[in-house]
Amino acid sequence: MNCKRSVCVLICVFCFCCVLGNVKRTFRIQELTVTEKKLNDCKNQKKLCVTSSSDCHYMALDGAPRVPRTPENFLNTSCHYRIHEQSFTCRWIQTKDVRSETISSFIFSRVQDFIYCPAILNMHSTFNLTIKSKSVISQKEQFSDIYPLNITDITQAPRPLITSVNATDSSISVTWTSATTPITKCKIRYKRLNTESWTETADFVSSVESQFVIEGLQSFSVFDLSVSCFHGFGRWSDWSEETRVKTTESLPSAALSLSYYVDSDENSGIRRLVLLWKALDVTDARGLIRGYEVSYKPITQPSLKKTRHTSHLKAVVLVRSEEYEVSVCAYNSAGRSPDRRLTVDASRTHDVPAVRSLWVYSDGSSLWIRWEYEFTAVNISEFAIEWSSATDGEHRRWERVDGSTFTVRLPGIEAQQTYNISVFPICGSLAGPPNNISADLQHGALLDPVGFGLLNVSSSSVALRWSWKEAKPGVCVLQYRLVLTGPDEIQTLAVFPDKQQHSFLHLHPNTKYSVHIHGETRDGNFTKASLDITTLLLDYEEMMRFAVPAVLLLLIFGIFSVLSRTVCREYLFPIIANPRYSLIGRWLLNPHLQGSDKICVLKLDGLFLMDQQMEKSVFVVSDHEDEVPLKTSEAAEGTALWKPCSDDEESALTPSSLPEYVDLPFLPDSSGYVQTGQIPGERNSD
Ligand SMILES: *[C@@H]1O[C@H](CO)[C@@H](O)[C@H](O)[C@H]1NC(C)=O
Ligand SMILES: *[C@@H]1O[C@H](CO)[C@@H](O)[C@H](O)[C@H]1NC(C)=O
Ligand SMILES: *[C@@H]1O[C@H](CO)[C@@H](O)[C@H](O)[C@H]1NC(C)=O
Ligand SMILES: *[C@@H]1O[C@H](CO)[C@@H](O)[C@H](O)[C@H]1NC(C)=O
Ligand SMILES: *[C@@H]1O[C@H](CO)[C@@H](O)[C@H](O)[C@H]1NC(C)=O
Ligand SMILES: *[C@@H]1O[C@H](CO)[C@@H](O)[C@H](O)[C@H]1NC(C)=O
Ligand SMILES: *[C@@H]1O[C@H](CO)[C@@H](O)[C@H](O)[C@H]1NC(C)=O
Ligand SMILES: *[C@@H]1O[C@H](CO)[C@@H](O)[C@H](O)[C@H]1NC(C)=O
Ligand SMILES: *[C@@H]1O[C@H](CO)[C@@H](O)[C@H](O)[C@H]1NC(C)=O
Repeated sequence: MNCKRSVCVLICVFCFCCVLGNVKRTFRIQELTVTEKKLNDCKNQKKLCVTSSSDCHYMALDGAPRVPRTPENFLNTSCHYRIHEQSFTCRWIQTKDVRSETISSFIFSRVQDFIYCPAILNMHSTFNLTIKSKSVISQKEQFSDIYPLNITDITQAPRPLITSVNATDSSISVTWTSATTPITKCKIRYKRLNTESWTETADFVSSVESQFVIEGLQSFSVFDLSVSCFHGFGRWSDWSEETRVKTTESLPSAALSLSYYVDSDENSGIRRLVLLWKALDVTDARGLIRGYEVSYKPITQPSLKKTRHTSHLKAVVLVRSEEYEVSVCAYNSAGRSPDRRLTVDASRTHDVPAVRSLWVYSDGSSLWIRWEYEFTAVNISEFAIEWSSATDGEHRRWERVDGSTFTVRLPGIEAQQTYNISVFPICGSLAGPPNNISADLQHGALLDPVGFGLLNVSSSSVALRWSWKEAKPGVCVLQYRLVLTGPDEIQTLAVFPDKQQHSFLHLHPNTKYSVHIHGETRDGNFTKASLDITTLLLDYEEMMRFAVPAVLLLLIFGIFSVLSRTVCREYLFPIIANPRYSLIGRWLLNPHLQGSDKICVLKLDGLFLMDQQMEKSVFVVSDHEDEVPLKTSEAAEGTALWKPCSDDEESALTPSSLPEYVDLPFLPDSSGYVQTGQIPGERNSD
């Protein structure tokens, strides 16, 4: 009893598995099964039973085996005994000389004598086992370790046989039989198709023929299951053969995820409500979805309710410009899913914009779709892609990707078929109108840019146009690219069918540029169309744009320099008046005036005024005695005439016949005469 554990299963525990991990995995699983008929006595060695008589020399004369052992060639040895077959089987892993043919045999030994060898295979037997393996060619013999065995512990229950299974939508009932020997416990393991791990039930009490019901299974799912049983001692049976069974359908468990947009044609006034929904997950569908029921009614007139059935994931219904209540559900053979209801105001169209830059290319075995989306006020939760053969609109397929994915591979595309592909933006319960493109596996998108030409050219920009034509291009184009090449720049951008013109800006005037449309393919790039363009000379307006600031600048500079000269003169180098150059100065400086009888005066009544303001005045200096200064013809208004005040004309200091203008403050009329700067009162003595 105390050594129950150590004897029961004989598994070689040498850690050769580690070594095996590194070397080439060359090994061979060996198995040998014997029944009691195969067991032979060794005549005079009572402590030995053998399966091959030649092994009787295994024991030396003193009764102890003396053989070299190679346990590394008997890895993971395990033995079992089956009551109903009365068979004893061992399996082990041979790691050496795996190529050469070997013959294996068992050597049973015991401290106590064996009485009758064929009888040792019984429930109460214990013995030591050695496995011998002999190479057929080299005749080399190898011996395993000694394995102590207790038949009770290695007795294995027979493999059960599943006789019937019966499934509901959530349970499977399994019936099986075992061989006639007593069975006390069984267990079942099962797994869903295409999953890896098994689920095992707990042991349950059982008999030779039993039934068990596995509950809580997913409906409409395929399970593989098998049974194993146990005698109550020894070892569990091998698992029975696997049986495959499918649970039945049940009601779809979830409502559909529904989106819509209102498509209105302003010209015809027709409004269409486009409803899109997403196929249920397998776990929610719980069966094969047979179709969808769409019903809609104006809220104000529920009696106008209409219902239609479809197998597609899209429905287009004509509506009037009012509020509707819409409901959609899915159904399988077990029944209907919960309804998804929406209240839709068909008088409003929402602005979920369509996707842009839609393009398709082919990698030879499948179609790849790419697009762009300009993020606006609405958050795109998903994109829905619909595709069908252009000739067979009945078999439409759908794919959904999340809002941050802009490329998708379409599965199941057949060669020699044209497909119509639409991409819808989905934003929760709102959707946007689709963008469409057609494609086939050979060419990718069936669109070609044509009519490439110049739309407009100016001195700094070039505008180009082209259009897209439905056609089968010669090669599959990954994308088209517009390339502008100039003397010192290259500008390029990808172009897609929603773009039909482009302007290159900020170019140099009077410069030659060449513009191409390049097609990019897997094998290289080709030029689809090209143009050489020379930008124009600067035009009048642009010249003015350059000239006006320049002129203004010059003007400002000029004004500044003039001003600065004036300021310099005024404050830094002021002009000091030289009295010699002035008429009055000369008059005043004249030494003959002093002490002479003749009085030279400044006659002020000859002033000519523009008005009565203090302004520039002009006056005349004349000889007091002549008193005819203004009668001469030269003494025209506004001129001053110099006359020497002495009789002696030669003695005049600077006689001049030239008039001279003098700036002086205005003196009022009453001033009278001024004599050598003295006050007028003195003059009265005259
Ligand atoms: C063999 O194993 C059984 C169960 O473990 C035990 O009852 C029995 O005594 C063992 N026999 C011997 C000879 O050890
Ligand atoms: C032997 O058994 C051990 C554990 O039971 C296992 O890890 C190892 O892979 C087995 N060796 C071989 C060669 O299968
Ligand atoms: C098996 O061999 C060991 C020694 O190798 C011995 O002690 C043991 O008693 C033997 N078992 C039986 C059942 O004879
Ligand atoms: C399977 O189950 C159904 C309902 O539970 C029952 O009517 C039918 O007889 C069962 N079939 C078998 C083979 O057990
Ligand atoms: C869009 O999503 C972001 C983050 O998920 C959120 O912060 C933002 O409010 C959303 N905008 C709208 C208009 O729903
Ligand atoms: C596919 O598109 C073409 C051109 O856009 C159209 O004529 C044809 O009817 C479409 N086919 C289907 C099945 O919608
Ligand atoms: C895409 O196709 C749908 C129907 O097939 C049509 O209503 C819609 O106007 C098309 N969109 C574009 C951008 O051509
Ligand atoms: C061409 O470009 C000029 C300057 O950009 C612009 O004024 C003019 O309207 C354009 N003409 C056309 C036909 O686009
Ligand atoms: C084709 O053009 C693209 C972009 O202009 C460039 O990245 C690519 O290297 C080109 N391929 C070949 C084979 O010239």
